[in-house]
Amino acid sequence: MSATGLRACLLLGSAREPRLATRVLTFVTSEMKRRGWECDIVDPLEVNLPVLQTPVFFYKNPDDVPPVLNDIAAKIKAADAFVIITCEYNNCLPPGLLNTIAHFSPFAYSKRTSSIICYSAGMYGGIRAAMQGRCLLGEINTVSIPNVFGMPKVQDTLTEDGKPLDDHLVSGAEKHLNELEWYTRALKVARDSDASL
Ligand SMILES: Cc1cc2nc3c(=O)[nH]c(=O)nc-3n(C[C@H](O)[C@H](O)[C@H](O)COP(=O)(O)O)c2cc1C
Repeated sequence: MSATGLRACLLLGSAREPRLATRVLTFVTSEMKRRGWECDIVDPLEVNLPVLQTPVFFYKNPDDVPPVLNDIAAKIKAADAFVIITCEYNNCLPPGLLNTIAHFSPFAYSKRTSSIICYSAGMYGGIRAAMQGRCLLGEINTVSIPNVFGMPKVQDTLTEDGKPLDDHLVSGAEKHLNELEWYTRALKVARDSDASL
């Protein structure tokens, strides 16, 4: 299957430096682009949003919205799918991810697919955070695909420049992206045929 014509917004969780997130992001974007996806990235380390005080939909005058929030809003609006790339802190979703998502209305994400790619330095691959991600992704009106792509001990299975050292990663990415593409195309057809959107 090809993802030509599909656009994803990749939301990173980790805002640490240095971090394992970078190699996971490099691997995932490389796989997605190879399949034809257009990829926008929202990285909490780069956008450096304050801990939520004023969500974008609370501004009375649109001219007062900080440009960084408008830039992210444009990526959210353009997306056919949201891909959460998340670590796990204290068995929870990381604050950088929650903070980014909460700056925007839950309706900003509506009627698009979402997927969860999680990783950790340990043996559980961030799966406990992923299960919380499922709830969150439903609350922001996205359709979370069934497959969760978890990467345990990612420091041993991906090189710093995002090259896989384990076949599990290659087959896992393929399965995950096949499914994401199927659901994303299905929802895109539905959105394109809905005159009210
Ligand atoms: C505050 C904090 C909490 C953590 N909690 C967990 C955890 O609950 N489960 C886990 O598997 N690893 C946990 N770790 C270890 C992370 O898997 C590891 O630090 C990983 O590198 C985090 O991803 P990052 O480097 O992209 O930030 C934690 C790390 C930090 C800094």
